[in-house]
Amino acid sequence: MSEPFSARLRAATWTDHKAAEQTSFLDDLTRGRLTVAAHAALTAQHHLIYEVLEEAARAWHGHPVAGAFHHDGLTRLPALAADLEFLLGPDWRDALTPVPATAEYTRRLRETAFDSPGRYVAHHYNRYLGDLSGGQYVARALARAYALTLGGDGLRFYAFDLGDLDAFKNGYRTALDTAPWDEAARAEVIDEVRLAYRLNTDVLADLGRVYPNPFPPEVIAQIMRHMNDDHADDSLLICRAALPEPTRPQTSSAVMSDMDAAGIEFRAVVAGVDTPIRVPFAARLTERAQVRIEVTRLYREACEILGVPSR
Ligand code: HEM
Repeated sequence: MSEPFSARLRAATWTDHKAAEQTSFLDDLTRGRLTVAAHAALTAQHHLIYEVLEEAARAWHGHPVAGAFHHDGLTRLPALAADLEFLLGPDWRDALTPVPATAEYTRRLRETAFDSPGRYVAHHYNRYLGDLSGGQYVARALARAYALTLGGDGLRFYAFDLGDLDAFKNGYRTALDTAPWDEAARAEVIDEVRLAYRLNTDVLADLGRVYPNPFPPEVIAQIMRHMNDDHADDSLLICRAALPEPTRPQTSSAVMSDMDAAGIEFRAVVAGVDTPIRVPFAARLTERAQVRIEVTRLYREACEILGVPSR
């Protein structure tokens, strides 16, 4: 028996999927390296995209082939509006400005998703099956990273009222397998899914330029070098102050080992034992210039706690 079309489609587009999955913006966003503003910006781009995609879904309603793919429970626009209102307030529509790739994406949707059933299904599959798959991982990571509630305010876009999502996705794949497409029509679907992945990757790359990770590895390495070359004594004081009082005198050295937007990390030698110490910042830092100010504050606070004069 020949391979089902859904399996062939997935295999033929999986490298394109990897490129979308591995954009640094999505990685930074889901690891909590950005701010909730970046999550709101992605949500706004989604709103612009789903506005057109769901207009197409309504246009294909009742069509013998294309009409079989949409389901009321997939419709995302009301959830996106609710998320944006929660994240940005009543003027959220002001944030609906497309990045260049979103403008290209919606232009492509207007060009193909209203004329060609196969190309419409390609875009439909790309977004909704993605939302029902990786989107569910993304939602869990966003909830953790930005103190949101899974399925609640700010994350309703990722919550589907479709029962068992795996069963739903299997039904969707059966619809792909049984659509009466000849070889040329199937090749067209694969071609358009690859383009849809590229458009999504480009949207994420554009957002990455607007919301860069303020602390990429090379910046952390520079800060670490400076701390360890010029401020080893200050690091030691910060670590001592962060430790319980009895262990403070037993702490003999400390080197900075890492940092992120929420805190700085050291490896200190406490009673002869190499000990990891994380000291949280007073607030999340959003730019590099804030690191010096915050570390100086930690140093002064440590001097006060330890009763030593600060410079
Ligand atoms: C952190 C980001 C992402 C992760 C972790 C992720 C992960 C996954 C996983 C594990 C699957 C397989 C699920 C299954 O077989 O049931 C999947 C499927 C899928 N993803 Fe993603 N994904 C991500 C981003 C994206 C993006 C940006 C898109 C495009 C908009 C996308 C579109 C899809 C599609 C269309 C499928 C269905 C493939 C198929 O089974 O035919 N994903 N994803």
